[in-house]
Amino acid sequence: MKYQTLKGMRNIVGSKAEKFDFIESVAKSVFKKYNYNLLKIPVLEYASLFLRSIGETTDIVDKEMYVFEDKGKRHIALRPEATAGIVKTFVEENLAQKFSSQKFYYIGQMFRQERPQSGRYREFTQIDCEYFGNPSVYADIEIIMLAKEILDFSGVNDTKILINSIGCAECRPAFVNKLRGLIAGSLSGLCEDCRVRYQRNPLRVLDCKIDGEKFSDVKLELCDSCRKDFEQLQLRLSEYKIDFTVSGSLVRGLDYYTKTVFEIVSSALGSQNAVCAGGRYDTLVKELGGFSTPAVGFAIGVDRVVEIAESLSFSSATSPVACFVVASGDEKITGSGFDILSKLRAAGLTADGGYFNKSLKSQMRHAGSLNAIYTLIIGADEFAAGKIILRNMRTKEQREILFSEAVQEIQKIFKK
Ligand code: HAM
Repeated sequence: MKYQTLKGMRNIVGSKAEKFDFIESVAKSVFKKYNYNLLKIPVLEYASLFLRSIGETTDIVDKEMYVFEDKGKRHIALRPEATAGIVKTFVEENLAQKFSSQKFYYIGQMFRQERPQSGRYREFTQIDCEYFGNPSVYADIEIIMLAKEILDFSGVNDTKILINSIGCAECRPAFVNKLRGLIAGSLSGLCEDCRVRYQRNPLRVLDCKIDGEKFSDVKLELCDSCRKDFEQLQLRLSEYKIDFTVSGSLVRGLDYYTKTVFEIVSSALGSQNAVCAGGRYDTLVKELGGFSTPAVGFAIGVDRVVEIAESLSFSSATSPVACFVVASGDEKITGSGFDILSKLRAAGLTADGGYFNKSLKSQMRHAGSLNAIYTLIIGADEFAAGKIILRNMRTKEQREILFSEAVQEIQKIFKK
């Protein structure tokens, strides 16, 4: 029986896997600079956590979430995103008391049962960032700068930042009512999805690819506080020379947002062009049982970043094996080969080898395919003489060195 990967799930191998790793390490170093704390959250949660936070009527919860009943008859979901889980953890672990810097990040896989296409998978990795406790628009600016920095350092620099404010509990309801009235007037001419959105979440009609345009003139009248913050955001972004475009149709597909929402899109991608998205959610912590705490965050889609960052040629060719150990003979000989291999790794060198059941020729071929810079070769004659052959795989020069000095010799070459 030969198994296949489930539709939309991802096997990531070779240089692509290294790109994921690289982007994650870039993110980690940027988060460190901005003083964010790493946390870890579960893959499984009660489904109701997502219903409550992302919203029952959103596509993610309504159509895309993997939900099942466990043996205890509990409704469980595979996390479709990280914000809900992080807020739950923030409340449950009382992180507001435990951390003086309430800024957190998490990197991991999310699951949504969407129709797979380029840039859209059922399993995908997000770099998620959440900043609690700061109502100031400077927190919004900080996270936009932070996201941009991660993308820039990852080699994604053809990005455009779209921003909008979707108001707060004070100004949004009146707008939604007004919008609902307008949509009602042309309901029969709208697509099927928009007719459902009209009932459940009229704001989403604005970002419909088919009908959104029809309502592009409808402007949300922000209350004083939302308006001031949105103006500040634009002013500061301009001051910091961060290009952005205000997009009135940017409303986001998750219900928890208030005030600032943003997306970072890349022209290098197809229809799924958002590499990062986020915004403020000042009421969610309270809704999930915590003290009223303003918050703002984003998630970067690593799979999409990897797709763009093709210019980053990470392959085994650019991170070669420093030294490959080849040995052939009895157990004493192969044992000494393995001993050297372990010592090289302990000295911090990238070393490979240990395929001692193969012929010398085939081990050398393996070293070549790994782009090894040096090989250390031990055969019966060398072993008997307490020596080892050091071969430069680039120049093909080789010489005998003392077995006991082999590791130091390699260390000297690589200054480790
Ligand atoms: P989101 O817009 O649903 O927001 O996802 C954020 C990013 O994850 C997207 O811009 C995209 O790059 C990536 N992404 C989403 N779905 C897929 C998919 N099916 N395949 C590949 N990549 C995908 C959130 O998830 C919010 N939790 C962001 C946030 C954090 N807001 C505040 N804090």
